[in-house]
Amino acid sequence: MMDDVLKVYGGAPLHGEITVRGAKNLVSKAMVAALLGDTPSRLADVPKIRDVEVVRGLLELHGVKVTEDAGGLVFDPANVGTAEIDEINVHAGSSRIPILFCGPLLHRLGHAFIPDLGGCHIGDRPIDFHLAALRQFGAVVDKTPQGLHLTAPNGLHGTKFELPYPSVGATEQVLLTAVRAEGVTELRNAAVEPEIVDLICILQKMGAIIKVHTDRVIEIEGVTSLRGYSHRPITDRLEAASWACAALATKGDITVKGARQVDMMTFLNVFTSVGGAFEVDDSPTKGGIRFWHPGGELRAVALETDVHPGFMTDWQQPLVVALTQARGLSIVHETVYERRLGYTDALNTMGATIQVYRDCLGGTPCRFGRRNFKHSAVIAGPSKLHAADLVIPDLRGGFSHLIAALAAEGTSHVFGVNLINRGYEDFDSKLAALGAHAERA
Ligand code: EPZ
Repeated sequence: MMDDVLKVYGGAPLHGEITVRGAKNLVSKAMVAALLGDTPSRLADVPKIRDVEVVRGLLELHGVKVTEDAGGLVFDPANVGTAEIDEINVHAGSSRIPILFCGPLLHRLGHAFIPDLGGCHIGDRPIDFHLAALRQFGAVVDKTPQGLHLTAPNGLHGTKFELPYPSVGATEQVLLTAVRAEGVTELRNAAVEPEIVDLICILQKMGAIIKVHTDRVIEIEGVTSLRGYSHRPITDRLEAASWACAALATKGDITVKGARQVDMMTFLNVFTSVGGAFEVDDSPTKGGIRFWHPGGELRAVALETDVHPGFMTDWQQPLVVALTQARGLSIVHETVYERRLGYTDALNTMGATIQVYRDCLGGTPCRFGRRNFKHSAVIAGPSKLHAADLVIPDLRGGFSHLIAALAAEGTSHVFGVNLINRGYEDFDSKLAALGAHAERA
């Protein structure tokens, strides 16, 4: 028996109800924000996923006391201190969140050490915007073979910075640094994803002064100290969309408790265009969205991934599995990451007909056109999917493999399935709750 392999008996629709909790891409950043407060912070609804474990480990190494509390976490930063580099390096290569420790550690300690980053291999994922912004605040960055050493010999000062692209992480870097820098910071071409707005809400609760203007401009007035926060995070709209696509691809019916319409409007438009049905329950206690396949044939669509309020790059992979079941030619132009279509090879081995192209198949301005990146796909459907042995390539691509295995006729083996734990809490139990026939092989 291998613990990292899932044996999937496909071909049966998924039916039932599951719950999504705090968004992975907010919770991990909210945990870093707790470092900025002088008093304890309380974060509700924290999912048990790998990224949370990594950030918790790093916080504890820096002296933050972390305790569990009714499905959430409490962070006490009273004794923040320097951590041993060897101990920090245990977390090297495991997540991208450590880069966001720069500003908070510089404010608290005057120096920071950041290990090599991890995360999914979906493009080069450089950190040039982060480092350029930090240098403008006054940080001195020393790149060593072990990792990054940062200091701020003259303190951190507000600045004007324009991002070359509305990067989520770099926007968070600027926010987490500017809130306690001296003076005013103006960030242009900022990302405005719902997870970023929720992080701004947290920082505001801590005492920060942040104005979100139109046209991607964020202005931050630095303050000398911040207090702890108490916050219930927005729920995971990436996970919710993944289960919605699983319902569509398996001709099933899944209610995702906790899913919020307001964060998923662009997804819901595409879901409707493809032929999926949904129903929103916005009652305060048990709200959520029911997603189902209403019968009949799904329709092909053309879509381009983009920064918010566009169609999220993380929604693309699960949706493509459903598109293999739609009649006609669907077109997907991925404009956020240059290498986020590699997972389609495995779908082709299962019987899908997906061709990938270097050209931009769409009109959204894109950084990858006429370069050597296969970042557009044409999907011809419907295709009958059959079982295969699959190796999980990355988080979202991996979940799409899992959906394909559930939709396919026959028994598939999905190798490296534990990687899915990085972003999907308890997915084995959720699969069981939805009636999936799957077991650890
Ligand atoms: C966040 O990654 C998410 N991760 C990603 O989700 C998500 O796909 C992405 O935002 C876009 O929404 C987390 O929040 C932990 P970016 P992030 O900086 O912040 C380029 C998932 O599966 N860029 O917005 O790392 C970069 O290469 C993950 O949950 C630079 O060129 O993404 C990319 O092409 C995967 N230089 C684009 O910007 C930089 O310094 C957008 O990246 C920074 C980014």
